[in-house]
Amino acid sequence: MTDQNKSSEKPWGGRFSEPTDAFVERFTASVDFDRRLYHHDIRGSVAHATMLAEVGVLTADEKDQIIRGLEEVRADIEQGRFEWSVSLEDVHMNIEAKLTERIGITGKKLHTGRSRNDQVATDIRLYLRDEIDAIAAELARLRGGLLDLAEREADTIMPGFTHLQTAQPVTFGHHLLAWAEMLERDAERLQDCRKRVNVMPLGAAALAGTTYPIDRTITARLLGFDRPTENSLDSVSDRDFAIEFCSFAALLMTHMSRFSEELVLWTSAQFDFIDLPDRFCTGSSIMPQKKNPDVPELVRGKVGRVNGHLISLLTLMKSQPLAYNKDNQEDKEPLFDTVDTVKGSLRAYADMIPAITARADNMREAARRGFSTATDLADYLVKKGVAFRDAHEIVGKAVALGIAEKKDLSEMTLEELQQFSDTIGEDVFDVLTLEGSVQARDHLGGTAPDQVRAAVARARSRLG
Ligand code: ARG
Repeated sequence: MTDQNKSSEKPWGGRFSEPTDAFVERFTASVDFDRRLYHHDIRGSVAHATMLAEVGVLTADEKDQIIRGLEEVRADIEQGRFEWSVSLEDVHMNIEAKLTERIGITGKKLHTGRSRNDQVATDIRLYLRDEIDAIAAELARLRGGLLDLAEREADTIMPGFTHLQTAQPVTFGHHLLAWAEMLERDAERLQDCRKRVNVMPLGAAALAGTTYPIDRTITARLLGFDRPTENSLDSVSDRDFAIEFCSFAALLMTHMSRFSEELVLWTSAQFDFIDLPDRFCTGSSIMPQKKNPDVPELVRGKVGRVNGHLISLLTLMKSQPLAYNKDNQEDKEPLFDTVDTVKGSLRAYADMIPAITARADNMREAARRGFSTATDLADYLVKKGVAFRDAHEIVGKAVALGIAEKKDLSEMTLEELQQFSDTIGEDVFDVLTLEGSVQARDHLGGTAPDQVRAAVARARSRLG
């Protein structure tokens, strides 16, 4: 960074009589973080210059010089030759100053009919649109991996839980499909958010529009926006799209934290339901036996900063009067960190999920131990004419015996079961098995293996 603290060197220095205070300069600058927008800033400027030439505000030659200069500036940045200057405040003025340094006076014409207020709003939208597309691709990869794993584990039986107590047997594939449902809703929310990101504020200028005969439909088309925004005041002050993205992200990370919690539990010695490959785990520097599920733990932890960023942006915008306020410079760091966090978490999960191995024997044993077919026995009695409340009572007593004698319902003899109800016959053992229990839930949305396979097929076709 170079620091030339002279007011005359500021693009807005004309009306100032003393240089900016050195600390204030640093305090108000955003270039340290907004330089990340350089690619989208240049892209927006190329489109702006092209439009200005089309409507006759710039000559074709001026436009060509500007575009060539901007491409040189881009190459300088990408090859590490660009010296960012804090005294030039932000990415926009750094690039414009460098352009003028390269091509001379014509560079100063680029900012005609534009302000940094509509420029920055445009840059963030272009940036976020690209990131949304990258995140959507990673999310699709994770969903695809989950569906493959669900198909592989369609017949694997595990305990289903309510209150984290064993409830009824389910298939592991069915459990994984519950996660896939959450992610599918996230993917829909992301696409919905993208619609409102992909609208172009450029042309609003500082706040009121511009006196030049600009054609905003040209710039919108060149930049791939669906349309220009309708109101210049709203254009420069609106950050709803960033809040919507962060709200998508908060909910996605909330889902990911739930998956993480279960993965952490399942890898523990007490559950031992799954194995994560070593490459996704780390060890302990003191306890030689440890293999820690760091990736799920870290993703679970990262929901904190993402939720925080959503609150930051909501609070940033609260009570802001129209139109642009410098407050809005504070939109970038929360947004950038949300993007980075979501992308990293999705990437790690998309790589890790297909590599999970199920310990089917342990899952099955856990389901067997927890009287998970008690409801099936009650349903059996109801189908034979017993009222449900009476059936509930009968099965409760059978479970109490099971607890006392450390026996699952399916391990009791017919005589033992008949002491609770003489309605019980030999055919009871068909429903008391874990396989019979999951197979019987054979309807849309149920846990039966065939339903899981059909649900995977439908989810795959929605994923496309
Ligand atoms: N760095 C500023 C931001 O991020 C750019 C726009 C500043 N506009 C202004 N008039 N100071 O919001």
